[in-house]
Amino acid sequence: MSMMSRTLAQADPEVAEIIGNELERQQNTLMLIPSENYASRAVMAAAGSVMTNKYAEGYPGRRYYNGCMYYDEIENLARDRARALFRADHANVQPHTGTSANMAAYYAMLDPGDRILAMKIEHGGHLSHGMKINFSGQTYEAHFYGLSEETDQIDYDNIREIAMQVRPRLIVAGASAYPRVIDFRQFREIADECGAYLMADIAHIVGLVAAGAHPDPVPVAQVVTSTTHKTLRGPRSAFILCNSDWARKVDRAVFPGVQAGPLMHIIAAKAVAFKEAQSLFFREYQRQIIRNAYALAVSLQEEGFRLVTGGTDNHLMLVDLRNKEITGKLAADLLEAAGIVVNKNLIPGDERSPDETSGIRPGTPGVTTRGMQEPEMQQIGKLIARVIHEGRDNEKVLAEVRRQVLELCEAFPVYEHLP
Ligand SMILES: Cc1ncc(COP(=O)(O)O)c(C=O)c1O
Repeated sequence: MSMMSRTLAQADPEVAEIIGNELERQQNTLMLIPSENYASRAVMAAAGSVMTNKYAEGYPGRRYYNGCMYYDEIENLARDRARALFRADHANVQPHTGTSANMAAYYAMLDPGDRILAMKIEHGGHLSHGMKINFSGQTYEAHFYGLSEETDQIDYDNIREIAMQVRPRLIVAGASAYPRVIDFRQFREIADECGAYLMADIAHIVGLVAAGAHPDPVPVAQVVTSTTHKTLRGPRSAFILCNSDWARKVDRAVFPGVQAGPLMHIIAAKAVAFKEAQSLFFREYQRQIIRNAYALAVSLQEEGFRLVTGGTDNHLMLVDLRNKEITGKLAADLLEAAGIVVNKNLIPGDERSPDETSGIRPGTPGVTTRGMQEPEMQQIGKLIARVIHEGRDNEKVLAEVRRQVLELCEAFPVYEHLP
């Protein structure tokens, strides 16, 4: 058998085994990380296709390599589908990741040293929104807004005050850990008042936006960036939307500005994901994500957990563990031992380090993909509570919860077609 035709298991049993183990982990754990999801078989087929074999630097019709006819077709399809889905003038589907999309957007809109204004990371912002340890904080002069001390929610008056003092060239609206609706119109008003551009980073809420279940930034922000692997449920990647005034600058910023060869197999997978997101089924899926988050939030509150902002409007919630005398890290580790995968997260006003934290950030996109609904969320809330309240140094409790988790996972399988 030629080297080219061997299966992965034949060619590289070591890697095949690791991937097999990961499949088993995904099937047999409850994944509550709000930035993760399970891509469909169709998305994974495109991502694992022969489209990985080609260099296609440039854009459709203007490539630096010959032989790109099908790559032009696939990229045009992905762009058209993204534009239709989000009713945007222009889409660039080449950014490799959310951070590279943000890098390209800044590159299109700013000069080095320009001032940007974004949400503090400790209050839910993202690394690529101006943190000093990231290119964004080193290339641009980053200023930050926080959440209201009383409500833990975005305080638009306060942002306006800061914006009028700082006079940024760009305001970034968007977050990694914010459980409430973001009012992009108010952001645009503030940006107009202080003479800034507005960039919306909808990496987390993009699926909700596509389904009309969250206010839409496309009509109000000059540039919108997003990932494709979180609520959108596509491959691990990203894209940028903008109005026609910005199209040329954005395209030039992505290539040749910050990237060279696009990942065409991933662009093919993004095309599939954009098509899936146009379906009525997807719209209903997004609404169920929100209903499930609400049900999980209520269940946790009934178990005595305090939620930052008192609840959730979207796909995630921030659990404040300070009244439980446990760190986010220990809670997440205990939950993992019981088969429930969450991530630790800083909460507003957190005195612990980002390694320890005082919170966790459960979200429902993954369990909703598995088909779970409100009754399962109720049950998961109780399982989380049991682990945090009784699981410390208690193998018996962890094993009992693990067994219940396995039952849930078996009742709601993810990849039934995979061995
Ligand atoms: C708001 C926001 N922007 C950007 C990103 C970056 O995405 P990536 O990890 O694909 O670079 C994330 C990822 O968590 C995010 O939450």
